[in-house]
Amino acid sequence: MARITVPENWRLHADAARERCRALERGDILYFPHTPLHFGEDDLQFLRAQKQSGASYHKNIAYRPAQDRITGYAGDQEERMRAVLGRFSRAAQSLMRECLSPFALEVEYASFRPLAEETRQLKTHARNDLLHVDNFPTRPTHGNRILRFFVNLHPTLPRIWRTGPPLPELLERFGAISGVIEKTRAGAGKQKWLRGFQRLGFPVQSRPEYDRFMLSFHHWLKENQAFQNDPGHARWEFPPMSSWMVFTDTASHAVLGGQFAMEQTMLVSRGSLLEPKIAPSTLVENLIQSRSA
Ligand SMILES: [Fe+2]
Repeated sequence: MARITVPENWRLHADAARERCRALERGDILYFPHTPLHFGEDDLQFLRAQKQSGASYHKNIAYRPAQDRITGYAGDQEERMRAVLGRFSRAAQSLMRECLSPFALEVEYASFRPLAEETRQLKTHARNDLLHVDNFPTRPTHGNRILRFFVNLHPTLPRIWRTGPPLPELLERFGAISGVIEKTRAGAGKQKWLRGFQRLGFPVQSRPEYDRFMLSFHHWLKENQAFQNDPGHARWEFPPMSSWMVFTDTASHAVLGGQFAMEQTMLVSRGSLLEPKIAPSTLVENLIQSRSA
């Protein structure tokens, strides 16, 4: 996995968009030493003053673009927070569309992460400092890919990440021995039952096989001490006011330190990928199929 620096004049090189997309699909990080987004000084001061006391159980303040609504905010300036996050989200969306024009993008949530990563007390599966690949517990992606754009808004401290091997390598090493395939299969009966209730109009949600596998694999990686302690993993620093983009369903990652990060998530449709053979959904489907043959 590599960190590829995007030149400041990237807008003049529309022809390089395919190259950028391919790098992301491989699991590389696209890195902008100076974020291409503009943040007003007032907004920065407002965001950096957020303490979120009394809401430490919330990992983030989430912004839902479709409803122009925030959740998880514990302060008394909700209207202002919504406006700031909305501005960020719209700017990040158009940046991602311009920078990665070959991809068909669907807008997901944005978030602001005001807490110092080092001080957070979370359960194992929710911990950010353990290497993992992303999958959403409540919103299955159906094989569409999770693309994330980050900005480090801290005035002086870097955001520190650790990265491990990309998903193709992880599946090769651990896919068959982790027990996740068996777990995924064991859940099939319950899913059939949930789909039946869904058809009858009950407010329940079934999870496709791909998402069941990915969420179990996410948990398994976080629980695996030998994998977490592997000294071969890389460490990256993202300085104040830098940005980066990455497919977090392929690039295994952990956040070791930092505070005040903004993030926009987009789902990339399976049909628009340039390298569908290495898409997580293809790899997982092949793996499950090969084990049932
Ligand atoms: Fe993650």
